[in-house]
Amino acid sequence: MTTTRPRNLLDPGFELTLRPMRYPAFYERYRDAIRNTWTVEEVDLHSDVADLAKLSPGERHLIGRLVAFFATGDSIVANNLVLTLYKHINSPEARLYLSRQLFEEAVHVQFYLTLLDTYLPDPDDRAAAFAAVENIPSIREKAGFCFRWIDEVERIDRLEDRADRRRFLLNLICFAACIEGLFFYGAFAYVYWFRSRGLLHGLATGTNWVFRDESMHMSFAFDVVDTVRREEPELFDDELRRQVEEMLEEAVEAELQFARDLCGEGLPGMNTESMREYLRCVADQRLVRLGFPARYGAGNPFSFMELQDVQELTNFFERRASAYQVAVEGSVSFDDDF
Ligand SMILES: [Fe+2]
Ligand SMILES: [Fe+2]
Repeated sequence: MTTTRPRNLLDPGFELTLRPMRYPAFYERYRDAIRNTWTVEEVDLHSDVADLAKLSPGERHLIGRLVAFFATGDSIVANNLVLTLYKHINSPEARLYLSRQLFEEAVHVQFYLTLLDTYLPDPDDRAAAFAAVENIPSIREKAGFCFRWIDEVERIDRLEDRADRRRFLLNLICFAACIEGLFFYGAFAYVYWFRSRGLLHGLATGTNWVFRDESMHMSFAFDVVDTVRREEPELFDDELRRQVEEMLEEAVEAELQFARDLCGEGLPGMNTESMREYLRCVADQRLVRLGFPARYGAGNPFSFMELQDVQELTNFFERRASAYQVAVEGSVSFDDDF
């Protein structure tokens, strides 16, 4: 155990000192996250069951695939958080935030477990959804993408040199920009498409809260990237930019393959072409946030994403404020989160 404090955020070790505080912004993010506590028991999925019976065969196929993705998505993110992010981001303030994020990922896992139990009453259908990472090619591909970026850093115990730090940064950027920030944003679009047609309100309510959490996870990760850029600007060279662009392109392609599987020949208001445009628009937003040039020049084709239900969230947070004696400010909209 050394008493020397690390110079930079990615210097190896398990720094314990909170005073004087070196990264107060991470501590504030932890406090903000605590104010957004919600529980799965508050989501009422009753009316969804009646809605499911009204869906066309194509829509039923889409929702089946979507929940199969949700079955394991957040568990993968939680694993990477513990195995990689917690290990290498050497600041007790940041580790406080990551502890809180881990709790939120657990709530997401519980939410989707409850959703699958409700949507798929047949135990065989449920088991098949949880096995989708192995058996359904479009979901296996996305999981494989995540696992590859976990494997890239798995054997690194300490970020000793520039190559290690670059690999870590790519993992961090991958989970924020491509997984939480693209795969999940793709999935949320299908949910809001249903809601824009008055369907699956329970799923949409839970999604509002997950959406808000995911936006915060992504913002925190990008703040970590900004901090590393300030401390070790030499890591952010053309090579890193090229690697991030390639990674995002691959993520867009994997999510598009998922869209082809979900949409088939296309459904009213939802098809592979609009999803391509949407994903490219999201990918551009991620690149710009990371300080890289936009690549696709795409616009958002989904008006229902811009109409993200601020009203429902406002009610939610007013209710929470009285129930938990914490004041919560702010709302979520598509533009804010990008
Ligand atoms: Fe999550
Ligand atoms: Fe997350």
